[in-house]
Amino acid sequence: ARTLTFLGIESSCDDTAAAIVRHGDDGTQILASIVSGQTELHAAFGGVVPEIAARAHAEKLDLCVEQALEQAQLGLTDLDGIAVTAGPGLIGGVMSGVMCAKGIAAGTGLPLVGVNHLAGHALTPRLTDGMAFPYLMLLVSGGHCQFLIAHGSEEFTRLGGTIDDAPGEAFDKTAKLLALPQPGGPNVETEAEGGNPKAYAFPRPLLDRPGCDMSFSGLKTALLRTRDEVVAQHGGLPRAIRRDICASFQAAVTDVLVKKSRRALTEYMDLAPSAPGFAVAGGVAANRAIRAGLESVATEFGATFVAPPLRLCTDNAAMIAWAGLERFRLGHRDGMDLVARPRWPL
Ligand code: KG4
Ligand code: ZN
Repeated sequence: ARTLTFLGIESSCDDTAAAIVRHGDDGTQILASIVSGQTELHAAFGGVVPEIAARAHAEKLDLCVEQALEQAQLGLTDLDGIAVTAGPGLIGGVMSGVMCAKGIAAGTGLPLVGVNHLAGHALTPRLTDGMAFPYLMLLVSGGHCQFLIAHGSEEFTRLGGTIDDAPGEAFDKTAKLLALPQPGGPNVETEAEGGNPKAYAFPRPLLDRPGCDMSFSGLKTALLRTRDEVVAQHGGLPRAIRRDICASFQAAVTDVLVKKSRRALTEYMDLAPSAPGFAVAGGVAANRAIRAGLESVATEFGATFVAPPLRLCTDNAAMIAWAGLERFRLGHRDGMDLVARPRWPL
């Protein structure tokens, strides 16, 4: 195949990102990847404020693209196409990215390819490990939680997912309840290290229900009750007990993800894949207990397990460049009428 070099642009949530990916017969290279976060801008509001996010993306996008070209030591004329997240996400941010991409496409005459953000996550194991279709994917972050089978670059089946909170959200809320700093995930994980995972029996909802759907919102209520009981009894939250709570919480989340992965793998194996693969993406994939649990289920089924490096598991533009490149190879092109879509199921 002809070697292709793609610029990727991502601005669907609270990270502004630009990246350059090259793919040809001699392999795949991430020539540049710039991610500029907005955490400080939103910190005072306790969540992402869409208007602030959109304005910050509009201000940062050009600079991110410039930095990516500089890092790759390339000019716009060295590119073969521009890929941009066209949804789903916060509409103002997605529009900023689409407008930036259209501007570059109009100025250079380069082809434009709109990409689904979730497809970007779902195709990452191909960018990092060249994983072959069909493979099973678990997207698990602060905003997403779903099992997908990737049959092709544009063909996915959803096997199930959370019906309420995402696990990352549960980690963040747990941290808040236990007065640990944000982001909750890494802090709860560290605190869980010295704790007893069997100290508290936190709920594992939907576990004996068929299918791959999950629920994590009940954990919050159970945790709140436990915390209040401990505080009433001890007049505070002793460190050793907090460790036990964190360890027990993490065990509950891990248990649900592992058992539902077993279900999803069973459905996936019915497709008789010749080289079975199970991949995970999203910030929660950074958790060592969860990662280890998922890896051992993959091993049970004889499937190759891939957990991409964290910087490619969380929001980035390399995955968008890659997904655009795959779509382009299938003949997909978008025109100046490409629209930003707040909702866009895979
Ligand atoms: O993929 P991501 O950066 O952004 C989206 O939510 O889309 O994921 C961030 C989430 C946060 O909720 C964070 O607490 C969680 O991933 N996270 C973790 C860990 N590191 C990050 N959760 C559990 N254990 C971790 N080590
Ligand atoms: Zn994402």
